[in-house]
Amino acid sequence: MSYKLGEVILSRDTIARRVKEIASEITNDYSKNDSVLFVGILTGAAFFLTDLVRELPEDLDIKVDFMSVASYGSGTKSSGVVRIFHDLKGSIEGKHVIVVEDIVDSGLTLSHLLGILQQRNPASLKVCVLLDKYERRKTEVKVDYCGFRIPDKFVVGYGLDCANQWRHLKDIKYVIEE
Ligand code: IMP
Repeated sequence: MSYKLGEVILSRDTIARRVKEIASEITNDYSKNDSVLFVGILTGAAFFLTDLVRELPEDLDIKVDFMSVASYGSGTKSSGVVRIFHDLKGSIEGKHVIVVEDIVDSGLTLSHLLGILQQRNPASLKVCVLLDKYERRKTEVKVDYCGFRIPDKFVVGYGLDCANQWRHLKDIKYVIEE
């Protein structure tokens, strides 16, 4: 099966405006005395996270780290059992953590990952996703900050890939199977 790019679902301008709005929501939710650790889930969320943190005020105490995880499963189905390929550099105990993910689909990967992080005793643990395919949810995940709710169709661009392709697109587009 081959794939080709379909129409734009979210343009670069729409994404940029929403990223600014999410940054304001986050700014309002934390005080200047808080230190907030943004945990990006590689690879897709790296694009969103780097744009997001650059919209935050200079006097907010921000730290950034990344994790690389994969969910065990068959084919395209996520099992929700997460294997950590690359872990955080330091402890998150007593810290305010925001997990940043590109898209939440079944929710299995994120819910398992949150379980792992919660056991490390952070002061707080929140979730920020750019896209939410809410119709596909199999397990409840509390999403604290969400960019856009989208229909159940495969999308690429702005970090999202199809077989590691098309992450570099500035707009988010549908993928068409041929
Ligand atoms: P789940 O929530 O455990 O089912 O898996 C979420 C992961 O599935 C995301 O981190 C993406 O890697 C991948 N994913 C789901 N839908 C899409 C899509 O439309 N485009 C690209 N990746 C997707």
